[in-house]
Amino acid sequence: MTSQALIEARQYEKLKEKEIPSEERPLFHLAARTGWMNDPNGFSEYNGIYHLFYQYYPYKPKWGPMHWGHAVSRDFVKWEYRPAVLAPDTDADSAGCFSGSAVTLDDGRHMIMYTGVIAGKEPGDKDMQVQCLAFGDGEEYVKYEHNPILCAENLPGHLSSFDFRDPKINREADGTYSCVVCGCTEDRDARILYFTSSNGTDWKFRSVLAENNGRFGTVWECPDFFELDGKAVLLCSPMEMLKDEKYYSGNGTMCLIGELDRENCRLVEESDSPIDCGIDFYATQTLLTDDGRRVMTAWMQNWDALQNDTTGVHWFGQMILPREITLRDGKLYQQPVREILAYRKDRIVYQNVPVKERTELVGINGRTADITVTLRAAEHGAYNEFEIRFAENNEYYSSFVYNRSQSLITVDRSLSGTRKAVVHTRSFHTAEHENELKIRMILDRCSVEFFINDGEQTASFTLYTDMKADGISFRSDGNAVIDIEKYTLSDK
Ligand code: FRU
Repeated sequence: MTSQALIEARQYEKLKEKEIPSEERPLFHLAARTGWMNDPNGFSEYNGIYHLFYQYYPYKPKWGPMHWGHAVSRDFVKWEYRPAVLAPDTDADSAGCFSGSAVTLDDGRHMIMYTGVIAGKEPGDKDMQVQCLAFGDGEEYVKYEHNPILCAENLPGHLSSFDFRDPKINREADGTYSCVVCGCTEDRDARILYFTSSNGTDWKFRSVLAENNGRFGTVWECPDFFELDGKAVLLCSPMEMLKDEKYYSGNGTMCLIGELDRENCRLVEESDSPIDCGIDFYATQTLLTDDGRRVMTAWMQNWDALQNDTTGVHWFGQMILPREITLRDGKLYQQPVREILAYRKDRIVYQNVPVKERTELVGINGRTADITVTLRAAEHGAYNEFEIRFAENNEYYSSFVYNRSQSLITVDRSLSGTRKAVVHTRSFHTAEHENELKIRMILDRCSVEFFINDGEQTASFTLYTDMKADGISFRSDGNAVIDIEKYTLSDK
């Protein structure tokens, strides 16, 4: 039976969505149908179609009691909204349906595993987080009558029952199930917990897959664990990180690569790196497509940098364009899903364009575009700084600056029209390959995603600049030379 809370959420989103003109949304990045969106949930392929659910508060463009919104796509690019599927309406999730994942059962049902939040009994008591199930057909989901299926009692001693969330379920080769869940000690030191199940409904604690031991922030939210190109990979989003050479302070993301010690079910770590170097990126989740691609999505926003002046805003929060991820030379590479190629129109190519003072090129502009700039120094002369300004007009612009002597990229959106004093600048180290830097940028109205050197690094940023600011210009302090390949992205 659909609960009153879910009926109301569905009525509300259907009504409110009509107030949002389609030009006010991204063209192909999934955004909240109405109100607020955070983490991607239940990213999965079911009955030949991709499902993407999300943390959702339909009633305001602000975080509130969490529901699950829902959208589907055949190609990761064009998304179609479906009615919300979960509302906080049972004893096991009365204070919110937090993040989780989805899998197809042998009997053909789609199963969601999510975190239920139970409010503390007395004022001042902490909430409890438990794991719950719901079964569905891609449209309607019924919560399991025996929820919760995992709670504090299933945890080994000294682990917190408050920070116990975000189950990511996997189907094993032998038909059994496993899942990783975010956990931590009482003093909030992350533990990634590994559970197993033979049927998907009865779960047993198996091991602590990975331990933080004070290295990277406190709690590691939204874990995802899978095999990629022969290695074991753990993606997660650490909270409260300290700044150092690689990471920024606040909420970050991290990719741990290593080997799985199968006997003890532990990740033997070999390397760590941030997943994305931009300001707006958090809470990744992946799926494996039928043709064997590991595709990742993420919330294109970050708790520490919310530009949440939401006056007059109908929706808030969007996802990245899903990315195909691979390992090359032990490093994570990310590329926009290949399906985006079908949306590329009006190819414009320039080669060997000298860039000194401000340079604009006919046809190189737009806010829905896929642009690759290959940058090098002129044969007789060098440069130190090279800049791309985008979403530019007389009033506003954002910039991408490459400082060659420091091997540093800095993206700055302080002049993008923002009135909020949150972080607007981000720098990260990079490397040229054969004296070239390759910069691919995907612009989609309210965002820009950079893919450096064929996806060796990525950086994602939201951009709430007036849509009329659609200029792009280049400049350098010496003799830079660029090749450009530009497409308009369009669904027409
Ligand atoms: C991460 C997160 C999750 C939690 C959800 C709540 O962004 O904090 O850990 O399940 O958001 O909305």
